Amino acid sequence: MGTRHAETLSATVSGARVAGVTDLDRSRAEKLAASCGLDVMVFENERTLIQHDGIDAVVITTPDDTHAGLVMECLQRQKPVFCEKPLATTVKDARRIVEAEVELGTKVIQVGFMRRYDPQHLDVKDAIDSGAIGHPVLFKGTHRNAEAAPGSSSESILVNSAVHDLDSARWLLGQEIEEVYVHGTNTGAASDGEVLDLQVIQLKLGGGCLANIEVYVNAGYGYEVDLEVVGDAGTIHIAPANAPVLRKQRYAGHPVEGNWLERFPAAYVLEMQRWIENLRDGQLTGPDAWDSYTSLLAVETCIGSLHSGTKRPLGVPSARSCTSEARRGFWLRTIDRTRTSGAEDGMEDLGDLTLLGVDIGTTHVKRALTTKTAASSGLPTVALPSDGSGGGRVRGPRGRAHRLGGYPAGREAVWAAAGDRGN
Ligand SMILES: NC(=O)c1ccc[n+]([C@@H]2O[C@H](COP(=O)([O-])OP(=O)(O)OC[C@H]3O[C@@H](n4cnc5c(N)ncnc54)[C@H](O)[C@@H]3O)[C@@H](O)[C@H]2O)c1
Repeated sequence: MGTRHAETLSATVSGARVAGVTDLDRSRAEKLAASCGLDVMVFENERTLIQHDGIDAVVITTPDDTHAGLVMECLQRQKPVFCEKPLATTVKDARRIVEAEVELGTKVIQVGFMRRYDPQHLDVKDAIDSGAIGHPVLFKGTHRNAEAAPGSSSESILVNSAVHDLDSARWLLGQEIEEVYVHGTNTGAASDGEVLDLQVIQLKLGGGCLANIEVYVNAGYGYEVDLEVVGDAGTIHIAPANAPVLRKQRYAGHPVEGNWLERFPAAYVLEMQRWIENLRDGQLTGPDAWDSYTSLLAVETCIGSLHSGTKRPLGVPSARSCTSEARRGFWLRTIDRTRTSGAEDGMEDLGDLTLLGVDIGTTHVKRALTTKTAASSGLPTVALPSDGSGGGRVRGPRGRAHRLGGYPAGREAVWAAAGDRGN
């Protein structure tokens, strides 16, 4: 995941550049740093990266069980941090992080629930929020991986994979989960006979909505995230694939993506671009520590249900009271940033320009679905400055070149690992 975020920040996102990398595998970090451009530092370890004054913000893409400790380090240094999901592997650790962020008085954490930036999911969200399908009564989610990540357990499938679906249900329906009931089975495809690699999660949410979520991590044929929301006045279903349908010899079909990187290319670009814009504006708007904490509450309750074979309540009243308490302290301070000002060299100052140049759902963004780099999509690209000014030249589809007001010299976005292996 680190490699993808690095490519995105280096090639597509404006207003930031990769300034440093670290990984347990140093050669991996060096290779990634070299591919991100000139002057990218390679750090000995996570701590030295997080503490470095030239590092403005941190992206964490290390394995799940390292997240909570690294996020706490970022909070101690008051560094904005984008942490891949899950924020932590236990509710207790997630709660500690929420409390530390509240204590800080500034919202500095964003979590990688990238489905919230997927154009198809955003269309579903619009349909629900606009009332186009009436009152939502059923959420039907399917989450299939071609094969389980090495070392997966019945519990890690919930912590690592189902957490996306639980967040999706909360976010799309705008309701908290009130009750869970989980069944699991070991399919023939599971390498470990103990692992329940197919799990069906039933939810009751506030507002009377039900949900049925299938998580199958050994589906074999490919990677699929499918979603239908049924309302009392209609339903909305995301399209099955970002590909044309081939009809031939009494057969109609389309290819299926192999993994999440192929399925969600636009979402990964948009979540990074918005994150950087939000940092520059001093106000984070993406999925936050609270969203993560609440989703992990649901995950742990699902684990309890899986073990006991019974339905389990989620303890929503305390969750709700925590929400108002925890949120009260947020957003009090803006992130410390001194932005370079004004136009230079006769160039127009584009300030907060998004280099994707468009809003979600427009043609330009949809074009990003079919391409990995902005350069080949005709979308604007950033030429990284070699003088350390933090600004960049923007080249758009019409060949315009502008100077950006960027972060001050040497204070740019960075992250903490280089990998691209698991889920
Ligand atoms: N949002 C998504 O769609 C999505 C998709 C895939 C993975 N993820 C998440 O991203 C994270 C990384 O997954 P991945 O598939 O890229 O894993 P990966 O195994 O491919 O990469 C992890 C990297 O972290 C390095 N590493 C391990 N411990 C470290 C430490 N303490 N300090 C520095 N580096 C360390 C490893 O050497 C490896 O290069 C996981 O938390 C995973 O859940 C999210």
